[in-house]
Amino acid sequence: MQSLGLVNGKLVDLNENVVPMEDRGHQFGDGVYEVVKVYNGKCFALKPHLDRLYRSLRAIRIPATYTYEELVEFHELLIEKSGINEGAIYLQITRGTAARTHHFPEQIVPCLTMSIRPTGTVNTRPWEQGVKVILIPDERWLRCDIKSLNLLGNILGKQQAKEAGCYEGVMVRDEQVTEGTSSNFFVVKDDVIWTYPTTNLILKGVTRTIVVEKLVKELGLTVLEKPFDVKFIKGASEAFLSGTSTEIMPVTTINGTLVGDGTVGPITRSLQEAYTQLIDEECGRK
Ligand code: PDD
Repeated sequence: MQSLGLVNGKLVDLNENVVPMEDRGHQFGDGVYEVVKVYNGKCFALKPHLDRLYRSLRAIRIPATYTYEELVEFHELLIEKSGINEGAIYLQITRGTAARTHHFPEQIVPCLTMSIRPTGTVNTRPWEQGVKVILIPDERWLRCDIKSLNLLGNILGKQQAKEAGCYEGVMVRDEQVTEGTSSNFFVVKDDVIWTYPTTNLILKGVTRTIVVEKLVKELGLTVLEKPFDVKFIKGASEAFLSGTSTEIMPVTTINGTLVGDGTVGPITRSLQEAYTQLIDEECGRK
């Protein structure tokens, strides 16, 4: 079992120097990316991730030079050649290499790089007992719906959360609570689940979509995709995050104050169980 890379369809050692100095991803963050989890040697929810990748490419006008089938094949190749059963695959596509000018080059040859890494030993405690988050200002640009390589706002926010001893920074823009720096955010109040709507101000998470469009329905729960402010979350009985690596993560403390009684609530628990079951089914686990 070893971490592996793939550049424009060719397998490479992860430590090989393969990206040119003037790749626009490197110089401008001019590209888009996806992260897919691998469970039991199979990609989970690969199709919605690739659908979003094509949407992101269209949004920033990078031509799609690989077909859906080719990208699926590359994911499978990385799993097979690495021997990794539990891990994550990172994929990015940049606008390719050209002498540095801000406008697009005349000839665009997009550059695809991918890597697979094992998940390693996971400390399951956060999922069992919940995590702390802090609220931070959302200082990102206005196209957070694009899964862009430009992640400075997210990175600075995550570091601020880490330095505060928190798992995640949950961002606030114009007094509304938008999302985590690498996850979507939900609160439960009066048995209704609330989450920010899918506008240009958040990423439409694949995990969020699974929660909102599938699990909530299966469990007979109610979800409202409406903005809510900081005051609103003070009266929440439960809160949680969703994301590819985050999965469904209970939040038990916000800005040092307990959410509800500070334990993981029944709605979050039922969503976690339903999500695990979905992974088991789709990836043939257990
Ligand atoms: N992050 N919001 C933001 C800002 C994110 O970066 C992510 C994912 C999500 C959740 O999306 P999904 O459910 O599709 O993973 C929401 C990835 C995993 C990352 O940057 O590593």
